[in-house]
Amino acid sequence: KRVAVIRGGRSKERDISLKTGKAVYEALETEGVDVIALDPEEENFYQQLTTEEIDVAFIALHGRYGEDGTIQGLFEMMDIPYTGSGVLASSLAMDKIISKKLFQQEGVLTPEFKVISRNNWDQQAEKLLTELKIELDLPVVVKPALEGSSLGLSIIKKRENLATAVDTAFEYDNEVLVEKYIAGKEITIGILGNQDLSVLPIIEIKPKTGAYDFEAKYTKGMTEFVIPAQLEEEIYNQAQKIANKAYRVLKCSGMARADLIVSKEGKPYVLEVNTIPGMTETSLLPQAAQAAGIDFPELVLEILEYAVK
Ligand code: DAL
Ligand code: MG
Repeated sequence: KRVAVIRGGRSKERDISLKTGKAVYEALETEGVDVIALDPEEENFYQQLTTEEIDVAFIALHGRYGEDGTIQGLFEMMDIPYTGSGVLASSLAMDKIISKKLFQQEGVLTPEFKVISRNNWDQQAEKLLTELKIELDLPVVVKPALEGSSLGLSIIKKRENLATAVDTAFEYDNEVLVEKYIAGKEITIGILGNQDLSVLPIIEIKPKTGAYDFEAKYTKGMTEFVIPAQLEEEIYNQAQKIANKAYRVLKCSGMARADLIVSKEGKPYVLEVNTIPGMTETSLLPQAAQAAGIDFPELVLEILEYAVK
């Protein structure tokens, strides 16, 4: 079987994708798989897809045009099996606002939120700020609807900083989510599978200073990870159950990683589901798999298997 690792791409998470792609490529090579790396940003990408006789695509792209259903649609049209979620799940999960609406409807606890569209913001920012103040207590988290790796995200504790945070988020997208900040433990839960799911051990994320933002995510040593997360057994199980439900609600397949906060009262809230989580050897999903006894090359092969099942 010939595997094409698709990495790079044109989203703002391109650099992360190159790292994910490299790790996946090397793992496949070590396993003796016939593997080629392709980048949708290269001019001859579409030509290579037809000439290289690919049996399956390992999509190692993050963010838009990679994690959002667009390239998945291309592979559907070309009849090339691909890893991870399908078109619908990919686009649902990429949009944090749609995801949260579905979570609410299906009883998956998620922090309260408000949505601001660019049009409304341009026309009546003051009115919206007043409404936000009445409807959501500070602190709040402001983020673009479609983005990964905490890009464009701010945690706001003072009202006077809210407008700037909304402007910043609009640099990334036309819709902005203002979400109630839940103080508590940040955790992440990897899930593998199509029908029968394996929910991996929970990772607790402890940024050494401040928030788990872009810098803390990608700078070695800035964050401490605890596996398994230090939670009471009942809360631990509940968190795994709700992550599993979020995965099903969004119709994910193959793999995903759900990000949650466990409030001080012990309630797990789902923030979002990442359908193509970072996959360098030290990334969260591979760490969780490792804790479950699945080493990195095994994980990559398992994800490939779900693509063709
Ligand atoms: N969006 C990054 C790659 C992640 O969720 O791991
Ligand atoms: Mg994300």
